[in-house]
Amino acid sequence: MINRMDISLSVNSRTYELDVDVRKSLMDVLRELGYTSVKHGCGVGECGACTVLVDDIAVDSCLYLAVWAKGKNVRTVEGECRDGKLSVVQEAYVEEGAVQCGFCTPGLIMSSTSFIEKNDGRHPSREEIAKGHAGNLCRCTGYQTIINAVENAIKK
Ligand code: FES
Ligand code: FES
Repeated sequence: MINRMDISLSVNSRTYELDVDVRKSLMDVLRELGYTSVKHGCGVGECGACTVLVDDIAVDSCLYLAVWAKGKNVRTVEGECRDGKLSVVQEAYVEEGAVQCGFCTPGLIMSSTSFIEKNDGRHPSREEIAKGHAGNLCRCTGYQTIINAVENAIKK
């Protein structure tokens, strides 16, 4: 039985040629490549700590096979900071104090980034922002500041 595959994928605009076990999750592959912002929380699609963008769509990378990312562009929070400058969303999280222990933060920032890109030009309500982040759990329960951060980033 063939259980390995050669794939090429891009992570934060850097190309990788990989020989991967077809059963391996994108989360595990990214962490092995050094993208440790991608957190292993629940491992079953419940917490969102492993959220990354695949071709600009937010996915739970623990449930997403690495082979499905063949030929695609993956974004993790490491790539959002450019030339030493935080992205607008990262900056807004800092300004609003939307980080406590920080375990959920990389996944949340990627969900916020995808949410804001999808809602380009719109001003969603706080309820819509909350619904748009329903797949991300924060065990420190900093939800109000997280919503403040998204509103702040949208204003910018
Ligand atoms: S680790 Fe992927 S959703 Fe929790
Ligand atoms: S800041 Fe601790 S889990 Fe969200």
